[in-house]
Amino acid sequence: MKILVTGAAGYIGSVCTEALIERGHNVIALDDLSEGHKEAVDARAAFCQVDLHDLPALDHVFEKHKIDAVMHFAAKCLVEESVREPGKYYRANISAGINLLDSMLRHRIRKLIFSSTAATYGEPEKNPIPEEHRTNPVNPYGASKLLFERILSEFRANSGLEYITMRYFNAAGASEVHGEDHHPETHVIPILLEVAAGEREAFQVYGTDYPTLDGTCVRDYIHILDIAQAHTLAIERISEFPGRIYNIGNGHGFSVKEVMEAASRVTGRKINYRTAPRRAGDPATLVASSDKIQRELGWKPAFSALDSIIETAWEWKQKFPKGYSSD
Ligand SMILES: NC(=O)c1ccc[n+]([C@@H]2O[C@H](COP(=O)([O-])OP(=O)(O)OC[C@H]3O[C@@H](n4cnc5c(N)ncnc54)[C@H](O)[C@@H]3O)[C@@H](O)[C@H]2O)c1
Repeated sequence: MKILVTGAAGYIGSVCTEALIERGHNVIALDDLSEGHKEAVDARAAFCQVDLHDLPALDHVFEKHKIDAVMHFAAKCLVEESVREPGKYYRANISAGINLLDSMLRHRIRKLIFSSTAATYGEPEKNPIPEEHRTNPVNPYGASKLLFERILSEFRANSGLEYITMRYFNAAGASEVHGEDHHPETHVIPILLEVAAGEREAFQVYGTDYPTLDGTCVRDYIHILDIAQAHTLAIERISEFPGRIYNIGNGHGFSVKEVMEAASRVTGRKINYRTAPRRAGDPATLVASSDKIQRELGWKPAFSALDSIIETAWEWKQKFPKGYSSD
């Protein structure tokens, strides 16, 4: 298939581009480079520097390349920023997405995988969380993703759009060549590795009084190669499961303290940390039930051990200590 990957210069998009190419697909990699890195785009993909808000440029991409399907990773994804600047998040995650849908359908492309998030659930009533759990996002980032899920179902009713929504939990780890290099970095594992590497003084533990085993937040870390595998399976069988929502998680929760200890074990370095009060809107525990995708697509995470997930991120950091070099 010829697949358009939006956000292909970002963390998850770059790894999925690599996996799709390895699997024999052709990739048209689209990114405006507002956050991502040109160097992260696989050299075997055709790269288009296009902002999804620019409809004529987007139409041009669909006219130029005979695209069969789209994977839509491009988004703004910083929770705290979304609280400060909700308009930026609704423009990026809704308006730009509608441009993509309009342009796709004008060019008779009806297959789409959409990157959603566990943030659509808000504070869950139970863990592991199944897809039918009520949704109640507590920040504009999660709300924008949930709204786009609804927009997709409305488009599907009238256009024959075949889409699958993937709600990722905490993406982590690296491939041999692509890893996580966000500015600012807000994710737990890369921050811990910065502390281990001596690039950051200390790690902040937000909240030590949660109702969890050690008082720190529990999250589900899913390796990006497992996310990529879920995407290749889904795009190849999308016509059998149109309109599905799948959680993509490991099914195991790890507390912030456990992740700190694992990072120290893997790197062989001491991790300095400080404790700070809870952050508003941080649920105590978020763990995925991924039974549905396991049952329907036969997907199963290959990297469920936390140490092996961190190991791949640490190897990538040691290979590329400055991340992607253009910055
Ligand atoms: N990283 C996670 O743990 C996680 C968890 C749940 C969901 N997600 C979702 O997965 C997707 C990818 O996340 P990521 O961590 O790779 O993010 P990222 O910021 O690394 O990548 C997003 C990419 O989209 C590009 N982009 C943003 N707006 C654009 C626009 N208007 N036009 C073209 N390109 C644009 C950015 O330049 C960037 O390269 C996002 O949709 C995010 O909401 C990520």
